[in-house]
Amino acid sequence: MTHTTPGNEWWRTAVIYQIYPRSFADSNGDGIGDIPGITDRLSALQNLGVDAIWLSPFYTSPQNDAGYDVADYTDVDPLFGTLSDFDRMLDRAHELGLRVIIDLVPNHSSSAHPWFQEALASPPGSEARARYIFRDGRGSDGELPPNNWQSVFGSPAWTRTTNTDGTPGQWYLHLFDSSQPDFDWNNPWVHEQFRSILRFWLDRGVDGFRVDVAHGLYKADGLPDWTPPREAGSMGGSLENNQTPPFFGQPGVHTVYRDWHTIFASYEGDRVLCAEAWVEPLSQLALWVRPDEMHQAFNFSYLTTGWSACAVRKIVDDSIAAFSAVGAPSTWVLSNHDVVRHASRLALTADNPQGDGIGPRSPGLPDATVGLRRARAASALMLALPGSAYIYQGEELGLPEVIDLPDSARQDPTWFRNNGKRYGRDGCRVPIPWEADTPAYGFNSTGKSWLPQPDDWSALARSAQERVEGSTLELYRAALRLRREYSLGSTQLRWLAEYPDNVTAFEVGNVRVLTNFGTVPHRLPEGEVLLRSSGTAGESLLPESTVWMRAM
Ligand code: NOJ
Repeated sequence: MTHTTPGNEWWRTAVIYQIYPRSFADSNGDGIGDIPGITDRLSALQNLGVDAIWLSPFYTSPQNDAGYDVADYTDVDPLFGTLSDFDRMLDRAHELGLRVIIDLVPNHSSSAHPWFQEALASPPGSEARARYIFRDGRGSDGELPPNNWQSVFGSPAWTRTTNTDGTPGQWYLHLFDSSQPDFDWNNPWVHEQFRSILRFWLDRGVDGFRVDVAHGLYKADGLPDWTPPREAGSMGGSLENNQTPPFFGQPGVHTVYRDWHTIFASYEGDRVLCAEAWVEPLSQLALWVRPDEMHQAFNFSYLTTGWSACAVRKIVDDSIAAFSAVGAPSTWVLSNHDVVRHASRLALTADNPQGDGIGPRSPGLPDATVGLRRARAASALMLALPGSAYIYQGEELGLPEVIDLPDSARQDPTWFRNNGKRYGRDGCRVPIPWEADTPAYGFNSTGKSWLPQPDDWSALARSAQERVEGSTLELYRAALRLRREYSLGSTQLRWLAEYPDNVTAFEVGNVRVLTNFGTVPHRLPEGEVLLRSSGTAGESLLPESTVWMRAM
């Protein structure tokens, strides 16, 4: 087997670009992005300077949760194309030097999956039911759910089945939508299925997996009741103060990742498993990336850190300490398809629990100019940090959250399960603009779009930003070029003390990175400026901006 010497694997320092397939590029003009669309646009990502792409699910699915409800783990949904389209996309990406990570959804399947359909048609206690978590209800007639768990999307996490004779039957568990029944990972059969699914895609040549709900596969014995200590709406659980939810962060998950690690080790090249695990504190999350488990875990504690120099210094320190204690790189991420885009989030003036989204009636709506300025500063800071960084499609264009989507256009199950009280995640999922002043901004050629695009996105389109000095696209491109040139991903970070409290200042290798979180400018030291997120040559360290300088 050819593997790089441990410590030098590509994923330790990679910048990975998240493609949300339904909103990236639409080759057949039906208003939903697809795999041939991705293939056609890959050169733009090579040109941006990323190392890898991660694709959210494109598998056969009724699309009740935008593909995170999988009905066939080894096929492509016709909405997105075919397996041959996938192979072509993979080849093209590899030709361009881009690695390809795909999404794996092992916590639950779609209720349309034949395994679940068979379970529904089979009697209680049958082998088919043992693949999922079916239980009798409480109450004299089993009319109450087996416990009090709430779904992450809101409302009870149990749905009652109907027996084949029409009488009410058992209940099944779904931590997410009722169309996403949870597997029972105590059943060896489930392990066997997922080993084959991993092999199916590894054999095709994928470079890794982002593992959905990687903290959720095991539930505590007896499925005890649980009253969360904080607002619903979080995908995760705090493991602090014994507040471990009985459905997240159970020790059994680690046996699964150790098993998958050995499968990975039997394949050529350095392939990566990245955990989507909403687990705190970071010292607990680090358990997911011990040397014999997964390789990376999303750093959501970093993502949820507010606009504050002091908070950013702390989270960067805590992250590097927690992950390096187990020999793993930290990851860094500011946006994805589940959270308010950081060009809006960083300027929110009211609390916004992760996953709640924002809409026209939300309190504390952001000022777009402040949001973009802060987002550019935050991204420039993030892209200098040692470790691996994730970029969500469109953030390199400075896209904001789309706030004023009409209620009738919304599709996130969160919206429906809360009767419109939580807007959900549609606002960060709007198809991205490629070309100014064309139908659907070049997303396709018909002008159709599964979520309406704002009228004022021409100026944000890639074509309007390419080679335009000071554009967000050129800022990202320059940051990625310099990051590579100065090997920032693999260099130790050293804080500098001689700056005011509201300025973060650190050196990575030969680069000094200064971010002004305050409202007044600061003098820059003598030296060569390599990059600035706001302002022009000769200016000071402007408020809410980041500057990279050559270190003395
Ligand atoms: C996390 C995914 O990122 C999110 O989009 C999805 O709704 C849930 N997991 C359930 O699969």
